[in-house]
Amino acid sequence: MTFKIALLPGDGIGPEVTDSAVKVIKAVGENFNIRFKFKEELIGGSSFEKYNSPLTNETLQTCYDSDVVFLGAVGGYKWEQLPHHLKPEAALLKLRKELGLYANIRPAKIYNALIDSSSLKKEVLTGTDFIVLRELTGGIYFGQPRGFDKTRGWNTMEYSVNEVERIARMAFKLAGKRRKKVTSVDKANVLEVSQFWRNIVHEIHKDFPDIELNDMYVDNTAMQIVRNPKQFDIILTSNLFGDILSDIAGMITGSLGMLPSASLGDKYALYEPVHGSAPDIAGQNKANPLAAIASVAMMFNYSLNMSKPAELIEEAIERTLALGYRTSDIFSEGSTLVSTEKMTSCVIENFNEIFNEQALGVFTL
Ligand code: IPM
Ligand code: MG
Repeated sequence: MTFKIALLPGDGIGPEVTDSAVKVIKAVGENFNIRFKFKEELIGGSSFEKYNSPLTNETLQTCYDSDVVFLGAVGGYKWEQLPHHLKPEAALLKLRKELGLYANIRPAKIYNALIDSSSLKKEVLTGTDFIVLRELTGGIYFGQPRGFDKTRGWNTMEYSVNEVERIARMAFKLAGKRRKKVTSVDKANVLEVSQFWRNIVHEIHKDFPDIELNDMYVDNTAMQIVRNPKQFDIILTSNLFGDILSDIAGMITGSLGMLPSASLGDKYALYEPVHGSAPDIAGQNKANPLAAIASVAMMFNYSLNMSKPAELIEEAIERTLALGYRTSDIFSEGSTLVSTEKMTSCVIENFNEIFNEQALGVFTL
């Protein structure tokens, strides 16, 4: 079988981290005997420059024709003044909508080697392992009416029954494979749409009696994530709240440069690092490729249903960090500063090493 991947490197550091992801995918493919076929397309600002559109039909078609999509990053100062529908971000939003990617999984897990580089205390962080499950194709990001004129600006936060039901189901299913706890995050003390969300989540919960469900207001959740992140297993939330909370969760891992993501629908899947395009360091071989590489691990898990390569990739990242290699965003005294390419080749070397150790039955600590 050949697995088809649409590559959308995008803007800023997107192409560099996508390059890292591709190298890792190829290395895994060699070890596990899987064949991959890549097709690269433009998206975001780089597509706008060439075609006057951040997302062309051709790019969209390549995504429809692939098993999964891997995206680097979109955006940059250069395109900030464009009207909304031409901004690089509009391409990502349209892609999510067109591919029906309603569930966004963003895991916040602390790597042991990075525990000292987070802005939070070690005691607070140790043992943290939760997922922000963000609804991705509804809510205020897509609600109508929207717009602004000279005197007012407006957006609409809305959810339909079906939109809440399917993401709630996914939350309970995911929790079933983990610590069996869902925290549904809303603002039901102020917003009707949140009360509606809460009612439906509780309705769906009846089908999952072995899962614990609790509700939390979004402002309190922001505070609780930094106060006691260990209390969470699955944070289920809407599009806008999930956008904000997942950036907070990013700091758990020491840097937003570490946070991977999977966006899943019934038919398609897209994998991308959560960090942005970081135009200030673009093209300098400085970007942290670990979020992109960890997104590859998620791809093996969720789209290829292969947990072993995913596990090995994560172990390879952990080992690389334990050896002291750091890109500038996670650099600390006494560690070794490396480039994007060097970090990538270290992860691949460690991946091969772990693969061979396990194949030979060698035990490591
Ligand atoms: C994210 C980003 C996007 C979002 C932007 C780039 C449109 O912040 O994936 O979290 O707001 O969803
Ligand atoms: Mg965001």
